[in-house]
Amino acid sequence: MKVQKISDHVLSLGASDPGLQYFDKLMPTPYGTSYNSYIVRGEDKVALLDPVQSDSIDQLLSNLALAGVSHIDYILSLHTEQDHSGGTELLLQRFPEARLVGTGKVAEFLEIHLNIPASQVQVIAENETLDLGGLGLTCIPIPFAHWPDNTMYWLEEERILFSSDLYGSHYAVPPYKAADEKIHLETTRSYYAEIMMPTSKLLGRHLAKSRDLDPLIICPAHGPIWYEPDKVLSLYESYISGKVDKRVVMPVVSMHDSTKTMAYYLAEKLEGFGIPVNIHHLDDPNQDLRVSMGKVVEDTVDASCLIMAAPTVLTGPHPSAGALALMLNAFKPPLKYIALIGSFGWGSQIEKRFYDLLPQVKAERLDTLLVKGLPTEEDYKLLGEYARMLKEKLISPEKE
Ligand code: FEO
Repeated sequence: MKVQKISDHVLSLGASDPGLQYFDKLMPTPYGTSYNSYIVRGEDKVALLDPVQSDSIDQLLSNLALAGVSHIDYILSLHTEQDHSGGTELLLQRFPEARLVGTGKVAEFLEIHLNIPASQVQVIAENETLDLGGLGLTCIPIPFAHWPDNTMYWLEEERILFSSDLYGSHYAVPPYKAADEKIHLETTRSYYAEIMMPTSKLLGRHLAKSRDLDPLIICPAHGPIWYEPDKVLSLYESYISGKVDKRVVMPVVSMHDSTKTMAYYLAEKLEGFGIPVNIHHLDDPNQDLRVSMGKVVEDTVDASCLIMAAPTVLTGPHPSAGALALMLNAFKPPLKYIALIGSFGWGSQIEKRFYDLLPQVKAERLDTLLVKGLPTEEDYKLLGEYARMLKEKLISPEKE
């Protein structure tokens, strides 16, 4: 990323990481990511919002030089996770005159994560405005979007909202190119699924506050800037609404094809009833399991039902299904129903062990359908009945 002028007083000049494949070594980032940093210049003071991660500090320093920034009065830390705070010490070495500014929670976390004494931070209170001369940055904490310390800043004079991780996307736009809207929307959805969905129940207040401010521009901590904020605000309103489509997400892992055969048969029956089914293979030898799991998690943002199709391994779920269960438990999708089908060779406790991994997923657990060995004609009849039961559930009006 190079220097991008946002307004007469605001520049974007963070770092770009187009080659990043997995954020947090977990979330697939096919379009890389960016660690955004912004300069706000008032008549008297210059503020920098969010140092980048330590590995990317050279990019930030080079962009600051390119933009002619030779003095910084305030370094505002919006969120202390290392991808935004790791470069703080190095930035302070280059700009020793700068004062670190953050909320009390930010000060506490800078000490925990970066060993920067909390006493070194000028603490700013909720709704307090940092005066830059003719411009001010007003502090709006947004706890648990997605950490306790996330903070937005509002530049009232230009109606620009700096939103921290909220409204971000993992999308490193090539230098001097415009963001591709399709990719931006796609990566906003996957970012929401993986970063914001776990705390979605706490986002409504932050979203309402963003709407009240009526920003002209939203500057997130990752990905492209929103010049039409209504697009992302509407998307988030729909994501957190809890409204789901009557469709099935079906992750499948199979060792000897029994489970796969069952999954395909059930999917065909459901589609025959007009219920869309998205099959995701967790056993594709050409795809990292993290990519497959990421696609499942993203698909659950607005799906009503997930059917796990997995065989038994040593009486428990196949470990790929177990890993996915851990992910779903952490990401807490708004599913209405969850079900398990699969096969076993000689004995199984798969149902208990699978659901033991999912205490935080509050979806109604439907009956489990297990087959010993290869499915028989009788088993296919049971699968047909199972499909009819699912159809009744998914069209049930009280669950709409
Ligand atoms: Fe982008 Fe929570 O850090």
